[in-house]
This record gives sequence, structure tokens and C-alpha cells, in this order.
Amino acid sequence: MIIAIDGPAASGKGTLGKRLAAHYGLRHLDTGLLYRAVAHAVLSAGHAADDRSRAAAAAQALDPTGFDEAVLKSQAVGEASSVVSAFPEVRAALFAFQQEFAAEPPGAVLDGRDIGTVICPQADVKIFVTASPEARAHRRWLEFSARGLPVAEAEVLADIRRRDERDSGRAVAPLKAADDAHVLDTTELDVEAAVAAAIVLVEARR
Ligand code: C5P
Repeated sequence: MIIAIDGPAASGKGTLGKRLAAHYGLRHLDTGLLYRAVAHAVLSAGHAADDRSRAAAAAQALDPTGFDEAVLKSQAVGEASSVVSAFPEVRAALFAFQQEFAAEPPGAVLDGRDIGTVICPQADVKIFVTASPEARAHRRWLEFSARGLPVAEAEVLADIRRRDERDSGRAVAPLKAADDAHVLDTTELDVEAAVAAAIVLVEARR
């Protein structure tokens, strides 16, 4: 079984992906980490995120195992990841790894922006997770605060709006719901309610 979860920044798709994978005994891939790792490699080598050839080279050289999530989840890396992910060469370099991950038995849950549309158009279930920008900013701000990272909520909201625009507006694999995706709006849902709603969607397709 392949479950494809897409949605904008901080929509809760990562948490949902992890929970569904545990529930169904599937492997889980947070594909955002791949783009974040590319961005981090570019930045830490002293280059700008919009340096296209460096980003392409970093994506081709990426070892997609054993990421340090604490480093990759910073706001600066998040912002830079949406810049590098717009380059077709970067997306192409990460394509095979994601498809192979999905194809391995017993199946997998992948979350990202283009899983239902590009990476796994054949997925058994596609869920497009959304929430209002304000709800997403508040959740992300709570996460940063819990990790002791001081940042203003308004700044997190501005970053989220910027990333939404860039991820939805790009020419290659833009963020959008697949025609056959179920839209799950989590603005008013806590984690447990969102997981329960997603399980209902998966069960209907089994
Ligand atoms: O999901 P997360 O916020 O970690 O993703 C970081 C960035 O990586 C996104 O803003 C998006 O630009 C990019 N991304 C993508 N395609 C995916 C997953 C993430 O373009 N499948």
C-alpha cells in the first residue's frame, strides 16, 4: 500500500504521515527533509540557496540516510529549501530515491508537495492536508518555542506565506492537490482528530 500525503508548510502532514505509517506498519519518508538537506549542504558550503549549479550538485551528491533533523528543521533551512526545490535538476536528482522508497514492500507513506501528482501518481490513497496560514504559523511557532528557539509568530507567518507562494507558483511540480486526492482541512482538528479522519479515508480505499 502506498499513501501519498501532500500539503503546505506546517499543515501537519509530517505528523500525520508518521502516525499513519505506524498504524499500518508501513515505512515513512518525509520528503521535505531531502530538499532541506540539499539546502543545508549548499548553505553550509558558503553558497547562496539560489546558486542553481551548486544546488544541483548537492542534490546529486546527497546521501539520503541519517539526517540530523534538529539542524534541518530550522527556519533558515526551511526558507532555503523552498528556493532549491524549484530547480528542476534538484527535483530530478531526488526522484529515483523517492520512487524506489515507495516501491519497496510492504509499501510506504510519503509526505511532501508532489507525492500524489509526480512521485506516486499510482498511490492507493492520496490525502491533501491543509490548514489556514494562521493555524499553521501558530503550530510551527509552538514547535520552535518548545525547542527553545526564540522567533516572533508574525515572522513565522510571513515565512509560511512566502513558502506557500513559492511552492504553489513554481513551474515544476507545484504544490497542488491531485485530482483524486481527499482534502483534509486540519484548521479545527487536533492531531488525534486528524489521524482518525485520515484512517477513515484509508479504510474506504482498502
Ligand atoms: O515539508 P517541508 O516544510 O519540510 O519542506 C521543505 C521545502 O521542501 C518545501 O517548502 C518545498 O519547497 C520543498 N518540498 C518540495 N517537494 C516535496 C517536499 C518538500 O518541493 N515533495
